[in-house]
Amino acid sequence: MKRREFIKNAALVGAGILIAPSGAFGANGSNNKLNIALIGSWGRGAAHFDSIGTENVVALCDVNEEHLAFGAKRFPQAKTYVDWRKLLDDHKALGLAAVVICTADHTHAFIANWALNRDLHVYCEKPLAISVEEARVVRANWLTKKGKLATQVGMQRHANTNFNRVRELVRDGAIGELKTASAWGNRQIRRDGYLPAEGQPPAYLHYDLWLGPSPAHPYNKGYFSGGPGANCLQWNMFWDFGAGQIGDMGSHTMDLLWNAVDAQLPTTAEAKGEKFNPDVTPVECESHFEHPANDWRGPIRVSWYQGGAMPQSPKEFIDLKRIGHGAIFKGSQGFLVADFDNRILFPYGKEADMSYYKPRAKDKLLPPIGHFQQQWLDACKNPNLSTACDFEYSSHMIEQMLLGLVAYRVGKKIQYDGAVGKVTNCPEANVFLSRTYRDGWTLNG
Ligand SMILES: NC(=O)c1ccc[n+]([C@@H]2O[C@H](COP(=O)([O-])OP(=O)(O)OC[C@H]3O[C@@H](n4cnc5c(N)ncnc54)[C@H](O)[C@@H]3O)[C@@H](O)[C@H]2O)c1
Repeated sequence: MKRREFIKNAALVGAGILIAPSGAFGANGSNNKLNIALIGSWGRGAAHFDSIGTENVVALCDVNEEHLAFGAKRFPQAKTYVDWRKLLDDHKALGLAAVVICTADHTHAFIANWALNRDLHVYCEKPLAISVEEARVVRANWLTKKGKLATQVGMQRHANTNFNRVRELVRDGAIGELKTASAWGNRQIRRDGYLPAEGQPPAYLHYDLWLGPSPAHPYNKGYFSGGPGANCLQWNMFWDFGAGQIGDMGSHTMDLLWNAVDAQLPTTAEAKGEKFNPDVTPVECESHFEHPANDWRGPIRVSWYQGGAMPQSPKEFIDLKRIGHGAIFKGSQGFLVADFDNRILFPYGKEADMSYYKPRAKDKLLPPIGHFQQQWLDACKNPNLSTACDFEYSSHMIEQMLLGLVAYRVGKKIQYDGAVGKVTNCPEANVFLSRTYRDGWTLNG
């Protein structure tokens, strides 16, 4: 609740406050605009053009020089780079205040850490990390800068008013005492294994930089054959480049649940799914987590289902499969079913007469977030403002999801000590908490 109340208060202060400090943490004093770098200047990057276009875009980076040229058409004054490390080396010369990260998932935590370590505000496309260790390092870095830097993970559906309404219903007891919460996504993109070597990378593509910290895999144009904003579906299922559905739609859909349960790290994780493939993350899989009680609810079980696995419906006539990406909350007095925009309240059981629930007065409703990217830009300029999906909230969420993949790999229920980031009952699981990087790449540089 504290986080929420803070966001609420911040929103009441008003998004229009622009008395920003100049210097590293704020906006450029002369025109109150932020000097921003966009890393990944095509595809999802283009979805940020309009919001960052209101600021000074001083640098662009893309490993694909054609995509760099695409970004440069929109921001002709920006300095261009193919290696994000060089761009960040130049942060002082560029007068940089903030970066927006729209690259492939296996570089997100790297760029986020490097940017935080240089006192830059960060907007990172989801997922924030693809290993438990990455999530923890980003969070640790950000917690040392909280209050000075603004962070946001690109889970922009969070600004849908339905997220607030779902949270209010759960928090205010419309389903009684919360017991379990499950989210699911039905996307299925199957691959057999890493793509075979095929031809040479085109001259305009710096393939080795695209691989970045991940182990080398031969070039195949298949990794780059998707349309703008959807090319991530060509590589995010491979272990070395992504976390499959967990990092893809799972980030958005678990956010719908996460926003309503006020959880941090689970104490256990267990998972089952299709047969393990060393190259490709599972399509069909389900994972379950135990979370301790907090100040407004008892202990809960959180679950994630993907690729055809589904939670049980409370009644046959509620066909959860008709909802592609959704969440169901089970309480002592009923169920709440939601997708990103809608919700259905289902009182359940003889005692479920709703007498225990009082709807909020209109003036007590959680305030709208407004434009999601703008929320971050405003917070960059005014450190008193908060963001909905900051690196604390988002790193806990993705760390939980990634623990599900660890449990899936070892095929056991794992006990997790979130304070130190270790599995306590299954030593072999600890190997899967981190990834091995290629020489020359430092996660926390
Ligand atoms: N929030 C959302 O709704 C949403 C939607 C789509 C994609 N995404 C996320 O955005 C990211 C990009 O997705 P996409 O479909 O645009 O992928 P993409 O493969 O098209 O990559 C986007 C751009 O980044 C460049 N790039 C990749 N790695 C780079 C690196 N190391 N340094 C510099 N440039 C690099 C690519 O050349 C490309 O121009 C993914 O992490 C994805 O999960 C989020």
